[in-house]
Amino acid sequence: MGIYLDNAATSFPKPPQVAKAICDFIENIGATAGRGAYQKALQADRMIYESRKAVAKLFGYHDASRVVFTSNVTESLNLAINGIVKKGDHIITSSLEHNAVWRCIKTLERDRGITISTVPCTEEGYTKPEDVEALIRPNTSLIIFNHASNVIGTLQPIREIGAISKKYKIPFLVDAAQTAGAYPIDIEKDNIDLLAFTGHKSLLGPMGTGGLVVGWEGKILPLKSGGTGGDSAYEYQPDYFPNSLETGTPNVAGIIGLKEGIKFILQEGVETIYQKEKEVIAYALNRLQEIDGITIYGPKDATKIIGVVSFNLKNISAEEVAYGLDQKYGIMVRSGLHCAPTAHQVMGTKEGGTVRIGIGYYNEKKDIDALVEALQEISSYS
Ligand code: ALA
Repeated sequence: MGIYLDNAATSFPKPPQVAKAICDFIENIGATAGRGAYQKALQADRMIYESRKAVAKLFGYHDASRVVFTSNVTESLNLAINGIVKKGDHIITSSLEHNAVWRCIKTLERDRGITISTVPCTEEGYTKPEDVEALIRPNTSLIIFNHASNVIGTLQPIREIGAISKKYKIPFLVDAAQTAGAYPIDIEKDNIDLLAFTGHKSLLGPMGTGGLVVGWEGKILPLKSGGTGGDSAYEYQPDYFPNSLETGTPNVAGIIGLKEGIKFILQEGVETIYQKEKEVIAYALNRLQEIDGITIYGPKDATKIIGVVSFNLKNISAEEVAYGLDQKYGIMVRSGLHCAPTAHQVMGTKEGGTVRIGIGYYNEKKDIDALVEALQEISSYS
């Protein structure tokens, strides 16, 4: 089986009801949603609606029809950014973005002549909300922040940044890839206009699922146009939710699986999940510091991060450490730049990257003990 410590990439295992619901749907229902009037199609449609309701409930949002399903958080972010930012606009973002945001906005800088301001942060990833306000210009059309870094886990003060966005009436887009399901999020209290999430990480659903919750009332151009199952004679994308931004046959099986992941989270309670993970994170931060020659990046305080810890060991390359952990000890971690070169720039690790552990709901302190023992052995060889 091995020890899985790559939950920041994707969660494993999933609650058994996730796979069961997907199998059940494929074997016994199998009809597409929103496109037929026969009973099974209506049943599929209802199940998708139940999934929208589960997402809305988890994030404290009142209108399930404004939960738009996508194939992953990258698509959700691309949809929001491309749909809002126009030629010549200015946008503000953090210094710790994943390439899902960074490549998207750099492409718009090149192709639509937009300008980008990045908010400075400390080496540990701390950002001051007032630094966001100082960067606002008359043509700022979007503020984008990841809720927590996928490299060092640092939680960002999104509620305060959202309040600033609100004051200037600029939409605020939050990338919740690492926090949705692992950290309490309330769209309204947290002043979030657009929440991008993925299904396969802490929401415990399958890959190929994600979404965007659209609280913002402004216009978002669709990323894709096509069939929605209704208004077929109309030659453009309909302008009502969710069909305005959702097109083509949806991943019905995946979305149903995602609903089971979210139901599990709602039953356990996000706060309970967060507290349990925090305990293992605190334990990991403490125990990792015992290892000879380790450099740990980011905050050393479990209350300031979600479940990722990045480190390097002596002068051994991150790849070599990760390879050794897997081959000799059966411990699965991720090494390299984690698709977030700007975060590594901040930490000074852009050359070689880091080893990263991603702690999830199913990890226990004994997994950390095994990791520490393995790292101590690897460290002693060099
Ligand atoms: N973005 C994912 C990660 O951090 C895949 O590993």
